[in-house]
Amino acid sequence: MILLVDDEQDIRSVLSASIELEMNEKCIEASNASEAIKLLKTIPGIYLIASDFHMPGGNSKHIYEYNAENDNLPFLHLSTDHAGYCGFDEEFNEINVHNNSFTKPFDIFEIIEVAKKIKEDIGKNFIDHKNGYIGINIEKVKVFNIDDQFSLYIQRSPDKFTKLTNPGEIFSDKSISSYRKKGVEKIYFKEDDFHQNVDRKAEKIRLDFEKNPNFSEVKTQLSSLCEVQSLAKNFGISEESIKYVDTMIHSIQKSLEKTPLLHDIIDKIKKSENLISQKALLTAYTLGCVSKKLGHDSNGLPQKVITAALFCDSQLEDDHLCRITNLNSTELKYFSLSQRKTIRTHMELAIKSILSVEQIIEEEKRIIMEHHELPDGTGFPRGMDAKSASASCALFNTCYYFSHLSLVENLDFDESIDKMREVSFDKGAYKKVFEALRNIKY
Ligand SMILES: [Fe+2]
Repeated sequence: MILLVDDEQDIRSVLSASIELEMNEKCIEASNASEAIKLLKTIPGIYLIASDFHMPGGNSKHIYEYNAENDNLPFLHLSTDHAGYCGFDEEFNEINVHNNSFTKPFDIFEIIEVAKKIKEDIGKNFIDHKNGYIGINIEKVKVFNIDDQFSLYIQRSPDKFTKLTNPGEIFSDKSISSYRKKGVEKIYFKEDDFHQNVDRKAEKIRLDFEKNPNFSEVKTQLSSLCEVQSLAKNFGISEESIKYVDTMIHSIQKSLEKTPLLHDIIDKIKKSENLISQKALLTAYTLGCVSKKLGHDSNGLPQKVITAALFCDSQLEDDHLCRITNLNSTELKYFSLSQRKTIRTHMELAIKSILSVEQIIEEEKRIIMEHHELPDGTGFPRGMDAKSASASCALFNTCYYFSHLSLVENLDFDESIDKMREVSFDKGAYKKVFEALRNIKY
């Protein structure tokens, strides 16, 4: 069985019809990541996942990660962007040799050829077909046989199956453990019952989501200013700090009234519709809050770092380019030469774009120039470490990197803090700022 995940019904229908026809294989469908994870948890016999990336309620990385930690089934990434662009790490192709990436518009028959090969290699072992019976792992019986609707069987000899329960009869935990003790690994359904149950189960999960699209299992993809603010609040950034930053952004924008281009950049960030804007805004909110904690309210530093947050990534061409924080990243190979050049030089480009604006001073330009330096010296362009960073750079980079981990790498607060420790944010000039950041939540 193949699990197809796409929020577009048309794409799912065409793919599933082609797969069923060409491979004589059953497909079950999900329209979002939570639904897909629920199907993986409850339906035995899925041996391949093919999933779109961008979907409401959270992207397919959630499915990929759940799968990698559980059954690690082959995962086909179907998207307008290559897996590397979508933030799948270098392990994507290593974690399962069958993992593959197809870029939209894709050739359905190319996908089917790959799926056929996977079916040949592993698919046949996933469901145990025997003389009109289908066997599933004994541990999965309870979660699969909803309300004990179907009769269960046990295999006595190669051709002989004996009924264990009738419809409505409970297959108790006690029975499961006693069969397991006797070495029974598989419990069988009549083939028709099995398929009927798969369809009912998938339908039930789909209807539950239609009635109540509760995406609580996966982090919501942000799409508006409100959502960035609620993420900030979730991290412990107060309403007051958010208002303080909003007011400051408003006054920075006002002071740049004579430069319409910069005005437009700030307008775009305020709308917060793309990842670059969201990252700029979350960086600004974090900077506002951490600056206050460090007692910088009155020395003009918040205004400088918040100005830098608004412009530092403004010359990146699109969201994908802001995924890179380290020039040694293996993801770089997915970018064209000119994109790599933009990533390497976007700080200089940003400075050039604000060069003629008197209100923006040297210190703000320096912060922009150094915003990808990291305390362990692996950042760029100069590889400055924690010992050589200035106070304003340490403040900015701590908040910028934290926002990057939260938004781009989807880490929660504690995970981001742990990851930051790995790159020495708790050292040298960064130490105090890092402590203040940690304290916004605790
Ligand atoms: Fe940047």
